[in-house]
This record gives sequence, C-alpha cells and structure tokens, in this order.
Amino acid sequence: MKKRKILVTAALPYANGPIHLGHLVEYIQTDIWVRFQKLRGHECIYICADDTHGTAISIRAQKENRSEEEVIAESSAAHQRDFAGFGIQFDNYGSTNSPENKKICGEIWAKIRESGLVKEKEIDQLFDVEKGVFLADRFVSGTCPSCKKPDQPGDNCSSCGETYSPAELIDPVSALSGTTPEIRSANHLFIELEQLHEFLHTWTQDGDHLQTEVANYLKGHFLGDPASKEGAKPLRDWDISRPAPYFGFEIPDSPGNYWYVWFDAPIGYIASTQQYCDANGQNLDDWWKNPETEIHHFIGKDITYFHTLFWPGMLKTAGLNLPKKIHIHGFLTVNGEKMSKSKGTFVKAETYLKHVNPTALRYYYASKLGARLDDLDLSYDDFTSKVNTDLVNKVVNLASRSAKFVQQTGLSETYPDDGGLFQQAADAGHQIAEAYEQCDFSKAMRLILECADRANPFVENAAPWILKKDPEKAAELQDVCTIALNLFRQLMIYLSPVVPDLAQQAADLLGDPITDWQQSQTPLVGTPVAKFKHMMKRIEPKAIEKMTEETQAEQDAASAAAATSALASKYNDSAQPMIDEPLADECTIDDFVKVDFRVARVLKAEHVEDARKLLKLTLGLGGDEQRQVFAGIKAAYKPEELEGRLVVMVANLKPRKMKFGLSEGMVCASGPGGEEVFVLSPDEGAKPGQRVH
Ligand code: MSP
Ligand code: ZN
Repeated sequence: MKKRKILVTAALPYANGPIHLGHLVEYIQTDIWVRFQKLRGHECIYICADDTHGTAISIRAQKENRSEEEVIAESSAAHQRDFAGFGIQFDNYGSTNSPENKKICGEIWAKIRESGLVKEKEIDQLFDVEKGVFLADRFVSGTCPSCKKPDQPGDNCSSCGETYSPAELIDPVSALSGTTPEIRSANHLFIELEQLHEFLHTWTQDGDHLQTEVANYLKGHFLGDPASKEGAKPLRDWDISRPAPYFGFEIPDSPGNYWYVWFDAPIGYIASTQQYCDANGQNLDDWWKNPETEIHHFIGKDITYFHTLFWPGMLKTAGLNLPKKIHIHGFLTVNGEKMSKSKGTFVKAETYLKHVNPTALRYYYASKLGARLDDLDLSYDDFTSKVNTDLVNKVVNLASRSAKFVQQTGLSETYPDDGGLFQQAADAGHQIAEAYEQCDFSKAMRLILECADRANPFVENAAPWILKKDPEKAAELQDVCTIALNLFRQLMIYLSPVVPDLAQQAADLLGDPITDWQQSQTPLVGTPVAKFKHMMKRIEPKAIEKMTEETQAEQDAASAAAATSALASKYNDSAQPMIDEPLADECTIDDFVKVDFRVARVLKAEHVEDARKLLKLTLGLGGDEQRQVFAGIKAAYKPEELEGRLVVMVANLKPRKMKFGLSEGMVCASGPGGEEVFVLSPDEGAKPGQRVH
C-alpha cells in the first residue's frame, strides 16, 4: 500500500466561547479519521488552532476589563484542556493571533493583490452610536435580505446560507445596545470572487472534493451552470477589511484597515502547520505546495460558503494546494431538539467530563455519523443503552469473561480452531476500513459489532467459567480463552480510532501495543496475559441527570450575570470615583460599630460669619436631643433647602472646638467637595434618633 501524506484540519473554534457537545461532533469525528489514517500507516497530521480575531473578543475583553490577549490565552488553555479530556489529539494547536499567521496572511494577500482581485469601495456600515463602534457580523441581527427570514446574524443567513454585509440587513438591531444602528460610510477592501467563478465551478463540481449534496447546493444557489448559463449569477464581492478599532491584523498596504476575521482564520490552518513544521524540522511547502499531499478539511454545514468558495479561491490565487476533500457534517441535536440553554442540553465539554465517560460519547457519535450532512441526534436514552449494550456488554465483556482464566498460563501456543470466527472478522477488515475512509463511521461500527455478535455466542457456548471447574479441561479452557481474547483484540484494533483509551487497556492486558491495522489479520499466540483490570463502567442515567442539572444551574447563573451586566451597561457608571479614592484598609465589624450613625432632622441651617465653606446646622435626634454641627456644604446647599429634611450624622464623634463654636458631630455626604457635595438622606419613614447599622 502506498504511504499517503495527509493533512487534516477541523474548523478553528472561536476563542470567545467554551467547547460544547456540538463542537465535539466535529473534533471527535476528525480525531477518529486521523487516528484511523495513522493506524493504516499513513503520514497524517491533525492541525487546529483557536480563531481569535474579531469584534466578539474585543467586546468580551472590554466587559471583563482585560486585554484581548489575556482572554484568548485563557480560552486557548481551556479549549485544549477540554479536547484532551476527550482524547482528541492534535499534532499542533495554534492560534490565529500568531506571528506565523500574520506573516502568511501578508504573503497570501500580496498574491491576491497581484492577481488584481482586490478593489476598494466606500460602503455603508452600521454604526452603534451609543457604543461608538462599527457593528460587525454577529453584533447585528435583522431580516435576511435574500430569503427574508428574521433574526439572522449580520454575516450570513442560517436559513438560506447567503452571505451579505450587515448594512444590507432589513430592520437591523445592535446586539451591543439594543438600539437601531446608524449607517455610516467607510472605505473597505473587497475580493472580486466573480473573477474566479469558472475555477470555482470546476473545482466544486468535478474531482469529488465535496459531498454530492454540497456540490449540488453550491451549483443551485450560487454557481449555476456556466456553460448553459442556467442559474449562474455573479458571485458577490467579499468584504475582507474592517476599519479600526478591530482586534486583528492591520492590512500592510491599507493602514487603519484590518483583515476581517474570516480572511485570517482559514490561513490559520497554514500557520498552525508552520508551527508543526518548525517543531519537527519539516518544510511547510511539503504540506501546502506538494501535489502529493492530501488536504482534508472537516467543518460543520454552517461554514460551507467560507470553505468551499472563498477558501479554494484564496488557495488557488496564492498557488497553494487545494483541498482534496472538504468533509461537511450536520448539527447536533439533543433528545431530538436544538441544543437549548433553558432545557440544560447546551452541555459544555467541561461539564460533561465531570459526570460522564468521554469514551462513551466518542463511541456514540461514531455510531451515528454517516458520510452525509444529516443532523445527528444525541438522545440520552439511546446513548445510555447503546453504550452499555455495545461497548460494555458486547465488547469489554469478551475480555472480562475470559482474561482471568489465562492469567497464569497465557495464550495457547498455536491458534485453535475457532470455526472460522477470526478469519471472518479479519476479512471484514477491508470493508470496515473502507467505511472509515469514507467517513461512514456508523457503517464501520455496525460491521465491527457484527463481529462482536458472532464472538459472544461462542464464549456463551464454550462457557470458560464452567470449564474452569474441571482440571482435566485446562487445555480446552486455555484454547477457548485464547479465541475469546483474540476476537476481543481484533475488535479493539478496529475500534481503536474511536475508543483509544479502551484500546490502550486491551493492549496492556495482552502486552501488545496497537500500532497497525494489519495486526487485526494475525492472531496473537503464546504470549502472557496481564491481570484483568476493570475496563469500563456502565453509564448510569443518574449521571446524565446530574450533568443536565449542572448545565441548567450554569445557565441560571449566566442569565443572572447577564441581567446585572445589562443594567450596569445601561447606567454606565464611571470607574473614576473609585480610582480617585481607592478603598480604605479593611476594618472589622468591631471597628465599624464604634462609629454611631444616627438619623437626624435639620432643625436650623444658617450662614456663619466669615466662614467661606461652612453652614451651621442644628440637628434634632428626637425629643430634646440636639447637636450643633458645622458642615462644609455652603457651596452646594442654601440653608432654606436643608431645613426640615432628614440626614445621617455621626453622633458620637468627640466634640471639637472650632473658631466659630463647638462642633458636635458630622453630617454624611459624598462627592469631592465644593459644589459637588451630596448630603445623604434616609428613606421615607426613618425617625430622628434611629441608629444606622
Ligand atoms: N471560527 C469559525 C471557524 C473558522 S475555520 C477557519 C467557527 N467556529 S465555531 O466555534 O463556531 O465552530 C467550530 C466548528 O464547530 C464549526 O465547524 C461548526 O460547524 C462546528 N459546530 C459548532 N456547533 C455545532 C453543533 N451544534 N453541531 C455540530 N457542529 C457544530 O465557526
Ligand atoms: Zn436567508
């Protein structure tokens, strides 16, 4: 078999949010395919990165009062931790905010300029007057200009897939302030995609680069048939710049403008490969310019347009390898519905990992993933029963019911007659491999489980636990267990791309690391068997309930925080007072109670001769109790405004002799002084003399 050179990518997850079970459909699917290719002996690398640029990150950084760099560093660490938790193994995980990416963006941009694909246009853009920023992509919603579906984001329609600029939306609303944005004009750079129409038609329709349904969709919606001109309409110019302020890379020959995040994001695939090459002493061109290299992108259906039209157009213009295949998958639903925050089905990877075994999800997704774009449903009941039946009862059980009987003896020296079971499963290997190759994992799982369904009755009938009781049947017992463990091993080799941790445990048990698909073709004989360790627990419905509850609790906390922050941004209170006067040293409750605050009524307020700042107040504490206080509030209040109102005073302050008389306390007020003084007053109903706690 020829050794292939394969570069595989999954879409770069946005740095502004956590990884959830929907994302995992893609990253697990891709990981399985890569592990399969590696097991087949091909040179295959799995490249990914965080997608860090754009307005979303800036907004979040601003809200959290830290830099964009801090936010994306934290996100990258969290993403990589979550992926590792699911056994997803990248050969390099980079960031689009890397020097490598900036450099390669510059190079590709130069090629695009040279090709005469770039033009400048003044365009109208939505501007949030309240927030003082141009509103990009996801921060505007409105009605799709093409299919008229309401509540669509500002970059592309989730219903008809059309891309457009936010200013084209009908009835736009800013997600930042909820206000109707204003249209302002700015100079933008565009790539004239229409110049590549013919190339894109050929590339998408010929050569099996896309699933048939995707090729047909592109032809029907955008490309038409260039020969007959039927359905062909010009491809829209692609707006690839955004004016400052924007978190991204400034365009070298267009100061003040930045590449739109979707320009530098896919180039992140190449930049992350560059990092891989640097770390492994390899040459980038061997991956991206070598016609022998196969490039495979795995993406979700929502980002089809970017990957099947823009991206091939960019690669073609830059003289780089075009993808051999773009594998597009559908979306995850949970219990038959869209993932929902309120139902607790919008489960974060991190939350799942606290309650349920990651291997179970890998297996379940594999068992549901076909080569087409259908959405995939995670039904919790089906999930529980499928994992328990298939993995625990049918696969792991083969080992748990046989391994302990050959711990002393090891496997038989020659492989016994098993009635053709091993050979049958070995022969199924071709078909299983073909199903993996085609990303028809559900078919692969079905074929593998068919092998398990033949192996289990064999063990049932041979009943090693009964043979065990008869010392005369020791040889037969060893043979039966040798067969059972070999059939188990074969299954684990086939399943190893899907459940690598179980495969590792099987390898440890049999002292035979799984490194090559071909190992499934030859039985293992005469080798020792290690002590059997428990391999996989059943999934308990309780664990899923807990995961759901925790997701709901997270969601409640997040909504409460969002409500608070919405109010905070409505009032938009300045941080200046706290900056001007930072908090005093911490005090104890004992310190606090030493100061006796009381409600008091202003009985008289008068000017003081020769005092520029002071008013003299006579404060009543109820009954005959009165205090005389000099307060520095003359610039802010007229005496008659104060008479009769309630204030708060420090009533046990040691009396102090002043130039104008005795001061027997203090009136509480805020503000820096002068005209900016604000006397505190208690709410309606407070009585003079009451203590303030
Ligand atoms: N940052 C872009 C991709 C840039 S690639 C140069 C992006 N990020 S994402 O975080 O929103 O999504 C990452 C991948 O996860 C996408 O391929 C997307 O389709 C996929 N999924 C996100 N939610 C999903 C589901 N609920 N179900 C299945 N896949 C989903 O898009
Ligand atoms: Zn639409």
